[in-house]
Amino acid sequence: MIKLKQNKIILLVGMMGCGKTSLGKILSRKLHLPFVDSDKEIERASGCSISDLFATYGEAEFRKGEERIMERLLKNEEPCVLSSGGGAFLSLKTQEIAKKYAISVWIRADVDLLSRRTEGRNHRPLVPAKDNKKAIERLVNECYPLYAKADMILDTRQEPIGKTASRLIHLLAERDILEIKKEHK
Ligand code: S3P
Repeated sequence: MIKLKQNKIILLVGMMGCGKTSLGKILSRKLHLPFVDSDKEIERASGCSISDLFATYGEAEFRKGEERIMERLLKNEEPCVLSSGGGAFLSLKTQEIAKKYAISVWIRADVDLLSRRTEGRNHRPLVPAKDNKKAIERLVNECYPLYAKADMILDTRQEPIGKTASRLIHLLAERDILEIKKEHK
């Protein structure tokens, strides 16, 4: 059994395809906490898909809306596991609010892994479904220096997601964010 020791949100940040959503869902189940996905919250609030928002209003407007949603989600008093869209943690304002209300974990992955994981998916406006490596490389150069401001880093690799989730839980336990309780039979 695992238990959250601090009254904070666990915020997962990182590039599209790094596994934030899958890891966040596993972690939230194990912690019996709600799972929240910032992209889904943006879609719910606007009534539009992320692709439609980019197409209709452009990236700059999308980022403003994303910043507002992140503020609302981070200031929500209840602890939860919050998976953020790949661009959300680039905002300095979001980083500042996250420092106060959340423990942020950068789910770090290399270009090859990200490119394989996003290949063939066409719901992300910034990365094409085919030949996406160049776009990923560009985003890695832009985003990684800012993701590095997260409180901790978990390196991901090609391994079953359950194993990555278990490494995430141990990392959080090492930093005293979670407590792993032995179950007595
Ligand atoms: C984006 C990442 C996407 C989504 C949008 C923009 C980015 O989220 O917010 O397509 O700027 O990196 P995921 O990381 O959840 O795919």
